[in-house]
Amino acid sequence: MRFLSTKRHSRAAKPVLLLLALVLVGCVYAFVSPAASGQADANASTQVAQGKEIFQQNCSSCHGLNGEGTTQGPSLAGVGAAAVDFQMGTGRMPMARPEAQAPAKNTTFTDEEIASVGAYVASLAPGPEVPSAQTLNTSGLSAEELARGAELFKTNCSACHNIEGRGGALPEGAFAPSLMKTSDKHIYEAMRTGPQQMPVFSKSVMTDQDAREIIGYLQTAHSEPNNGGFALGGIGPVTEGLFGWIIGIGSLVLIAGWLARKGARAK
Ligand code: HEC
Ligand code: HEC
Repeated sequence: MRFLSTKRHSRAAKPVLLLLALVLVGCVYAFVSPAASGQADANASTQVAQGKEIFQQNCSSCHGLNGEGTTQGPSLAGVGAAAVDFQMGTGRMPMARPEAQAPAKNTTFTDEEIASVGAYVASLAPGPEVPSAQTLNTSGLSAEELARGAELFKTNCSACHNIEGRGGALPEGAFAPSLMKTSDKHIYEAMRTGPQQMPVFSKSVMTDQDAREIIGYLQTAHSEPNNGGFALGGIGPVTEGLFGWIIGIGSLVLIAGWLARKGARAK
């Protein structure tokens, strides 16, 4: 009798359990998903806070405690994360001391620190953003589009940077740097933010497609004279295999020689 009743119980329990499980899943989902986006907001505000701290330590002497500018440096309201990424990423900022033109140098900041300062500056007022990998993707450009990039570069950039982007002097001791080693991201950001005497090329003047074509043109212009110039980089498995073979066999020969000498001494 007892056995029977438990059996009836368990048969009813199955759908109830299933229902409970569904409700539980629903509840977990309802609680977790807003929590997850809350987490993202929290991460974003920690990033801004971290950026503000780095900014106040390294930049505020010239740009003001809240980026409002001083006699030593301009206001950064509205210059955007792209300007910060360009200026810090190329090592121009922080400027060591006030001078005519901040030279590019190796940056001592990590990508994460630069991104946080960028997020802080972007929080002051909206401005140009750091481009996505998608925006910079030049792999699908046709020969026609690359030719158009060359034309755009010639009309808009070569007066200062030279037709191949090798750089050139400007009046009053200023100079337009060589673009041979500049990353695609920094080329894009320079166009959007116009550092120093360089004009700003906004999206209304130069679309992302135009920018991509210019970057694609510079890539081809700069890769041509370099063909075969690298020792090992990207030559492929044959050279790498040969390299490994020579080093591998070479070290075996050295070890054999050492063993032979040791053996001879031991005699
Ligand atoms: C010694 C003073 C000095 C310090 C320190 C300094 N800057 Fe600058 N900054 C300048 C001056 C002057 C300019 C404008 C001339 C130029 O672009 O070279 C400038 C320009 C900029 C620009 C370009 C603004 C625009 O209109 O596109 C950005 C962005 C910037 N600074 C960010 C920073 C950040 C971030 C730091 C700290 C990591 C920093 N600066 C530290 C003096 C300074
Ligand atoms: C009126 C002259 C002028 C024109 C036109 C001009 N630039 Fe510049 N460009 C400059 C100067 C000056 C700098 C250096 C700014 C600095 O050091 O703060 C510069 C810097 C750059 C840099 C940074 C290079 C690096 O790694 O240090 C890039 C990239 C660049 N320009 C690309 C372009 C492109 C692309 C165009 C055309 C769409 C263009 N420029 C048009 C004057 C010019």
